[in-house]
Amino acid sequence: MMNLFDQYQQKQVKDMTVGDRVRNAFKILSLNKRTKKNGDSFLALELMDKTGNIQGKIWEKVETYAPMIQAGEIYRINGSITEFMNKIEIKVESVEPVSEDDREINRADFEETPPFDVEKTFQEMMETLNSSITNPFLVQLIHHFSDRYGDPFKGHYGALKIHHAYAGGLLEHTLSVIKLAISVSDFYGLDKEIMVIGALFHDMGKLLEYTRTPTVEITGEGGLIGHIVLSNQIFLEIKKQIKDFPSDLSLKIQHLIVSHHGEREFGSPEVPKTPEAFALHIIDLLDSKLKIFQDTIQQTDVERLFSEYNRVLGRRIYNPKKEDE
Ligand SMILES: [Fe+2]
Ligand SMILES: [Fe+2]
Repeated sequence: MMNLFDQYQQKQVKDMTVGDRVRNAFKILSLNKRTKKNGDSFLALELMDKTGNIQGKIWEKVETYAPMIQAGEIYRINGSITEFMNKIEIKVESVEPVSEDDREINRADFEETPPFDVEKTFQEMMETLNSSITNPFLVQLIHHFSDRYGDPFKGHYGALKIHHAYAGGLLEHTLSVIKLAISVSDFYGLDKEIMVIGALFHDMGKLLEYTRTPTVEITGEGGLIGHIVLSNQIFLEIKKQIKDFPSDLSLKIQHLIVSHHGEREFGSPEVPKTPEAFALHIIDLLDSKLKIFQDTIQQTDVERLFSEYNRVLGRRIYNPKKEDE
């Protein structure tokens, strides 16, 4: 007998187009109650399957669904694909919890897995650190870091939104910044060890800035203190365990951490005042912005010669895929 699911094509997020009927399982990442101009409320959802994320809206029975839905859980959603502001979204008609023994649902499909081998990349980062650091205090600093923060560091997001916003993103970004710090310090004759350690710690505060479970969410510390100060805090906490850590060395590293956003209006309490700090700031900017260029091109349809306007970069990005064909 044909079951209800077979009446619908079970398209995944990446293949969905306007007009499709949907009766799929999604993990609900977030749920927000909003108000329409006429005063009625609706629910805005962020949903994911293993192929991507999509927004959803619930216009009816808001009072029934709002208390029922829990962010981080999987639900079967019935609805249709519509378009809003050039993006597809789901007009949700009903939401059903999935049972524990629903054999069509493999929970692992809804766990976000990093897009690369995290263990290997972490090992590469540790090898890169070990081969560039000789100062015995900094060697100890690296050991304490990997003992205390190695595991959470591996799977953490690089950002809430914008760049490296996926599991493993912090690791990927940090390794890039470390490698670039080595090249730039060699080229300009800067203090390589200070730059490498500054690179390792610069965004470490992101471990405290947002949590990963059940969904990625900003923490109280993250919202009230921010990762720049939190990175400095983690550095100080690790440094405390090392006997006689020289205060001038600490000060130089702390300066790299707190000035890495480059300008006070971008959250840094001080602007970079050493060549190493300035170089680290530019490297950080380079890696985060180039990542946005690459992601934007990748997400732009082959048919389009330019991407949508990107708010962070303040421009549309040229999409060479069409001409390459
Ligand atoms: Fe940062
Ligand atoms: Fe960064």
